[in-house]
Amino acid sequence: MFTRRNGLKCTLALAATAAAARPGLFSPAHAAAEPVFKVPPLGYGFDALEPYVDTATMTIHHDRHHGAYVAALNGLVEKYPGLATTAPVALLTDLATVPEAVRGPVRNNLGGHWNHSFFWELMTPGGAKEPSGELKTAIDSAFGSPAKLIEKVNAAGLGHFGSGWAWLIVDKLGKLDIVSTPNQDTPLEQGAQRVVLGVDVWEHAYYLKYQNKRADYLAAWWNTVNWDRAAANFAKAPV
Ligand SMILES: [Fe+2]
Repeated sequence: MFTRRNGLKCTLALAATAAAARPGLFSPAHAAAEPVFKVPPLGYGFDALEPYVDTATMTIHHDRHHGAYVAALNGLVEKYPGLATTAPVALLTDLATVPEAVRGPVRNNLGGHWNHSFFWELMTPGGAKEPSGELKTAIDSAFGSPAKLIEKVNAAGLGHFGSGWAWLIVDKLGKLDIVSTPNQDTPLEQGAQRVVLGVDVWEHAYYLKYQNKRADYLAAWWNTVNWDRAAANFAKAPV
């Protein structure tokens, strides 16, 4: 005899059968699947950039702020599977290819992931403390000297209202240029062929140690720059 209880049992059994026929959909393997995006580990300790960038700021910045962008991205993969299969640089260079419904979240969170991954690699407790080789030659030609470059990047960072970044890029004409971007926008969407260096001027990057003194943070930050990495960025093939 068909009863409401029997009907419910039947429905549950059919659902279980359907799930079993689609492996991975509800399986433990799916639940334990690796996330598409991960925060890359630092190549140095959280305390390695003291006293210029303090340990607490590095820890919170890397684990929580960058972690939040990555967590949001992994949530977006279900709404926009192209995130998992398209190179981030390609998406960020041409955000118009991203469906409008998710374009804003992709801009913010993929941009945040790309910007911060770039930033961690650009800093180091060791390495060259000033530019050399072809990068030095190009900086001298474009700005007069590394000191002048630093002045101009600091001015771009200080002059940027609110949260954002200041960058040294190779522009679409192949020339060194200094630009700033708001929020987590990247210089890639401005047509940068290569991104040589960049500094995070969100308050979360400096407030614990420097409070509102962005100029002091910027002055100290140059002590952390990995000029070997900047030279490698300069030498890369255009995006
Ligand atoms: Fe940041």
